[in-house]
Amino acid sequence: MKIRLNRFLSLSGVASRRKAESLIESGEIIVNGQVETRLQKVIDPEKDKVFFEKKLLVPQNFEYYKMNKPRFCLTTMATDEKRRTVRDLLPDSKTKLFPIGRLDYDTEGLLLFTNDGQVAHRISHPSFLIQKTYLAHLAGNISKTFFEKMKKGANLEDGFLVPEKLEMVSSDSSESLVRIEIHVGRNHIVKNFFKYFGKEVRKLKRVSVGPVKLAELGSGKIIKLDYNELQGLKEIMFK
Ligand code: URA
Repeated sequence: MKIRLNRFLSLSGVASRRKAESLIESGEIIVNGQVETRLQKVIDPEKDKVFFEKKLLVPQNFEYYKMNKPRFCLTTMATDEKRRTVRDLLPDSKTKLFPIGRLDYDTEGLLLFTNDGQVAHRISHPSFLIQKTYLAHLAGNISKTFFEKMKKGANLEDGFLVPEKLEMVSSDSSESLVRIEIHVGRNHIVKNFFKYFGKEVRKLKRVSVGPVKLAELGSGKIIKLDYNELQGLKEIMFK
């Protein structure tokens, strides 16, 4: 099947389709030994040889999924005798999927899976500033003044953390529900942030990773990312 050169480049993991166009226009793509600068160029991946930075490109069948990880489920691809793991929830497939980053055993919510190592690495890397949003159920009431203090950040053992956003969703004498947005992915980071202020996290749920939202996905369910979600992620990573 013939495809546009920029699509072939994005399937090969070189760049997003938009970035691929600028690589083509700037003469960095070689097709069958010739520099190719035509954006409308169509190639046959079975026959044509495409090179970028002296490397032959091979399109890969990458897959990207989102799961609503249940509470009390381990983020591991190893088997565990006693505890449920995310592996138990994956569809039977020849593709070797792995989770992108991890959620604690007792944290629920959005967990991405792929077989694309480059994307996984970039999403997990703080330099890409991928926002992650969590809903945290905290024990007890939080006063406005104390909440303002929390917004200024916490000096944690593994570094200072100022949330990008901290919003009070609801608060009464028994519990406060707080939405927190951060872009770092350190171990237990959200729990440690609230612990710093003496607040116990009773329940934690991740509701978004960059442009990907948990939305109405049922607990334990896994589905493929749609076109917009995937393009949104790739735009952040390859811009
Ligand atoms: N921060 C935590 O404390 N736990 C998680 O699972 C994710 C972020």
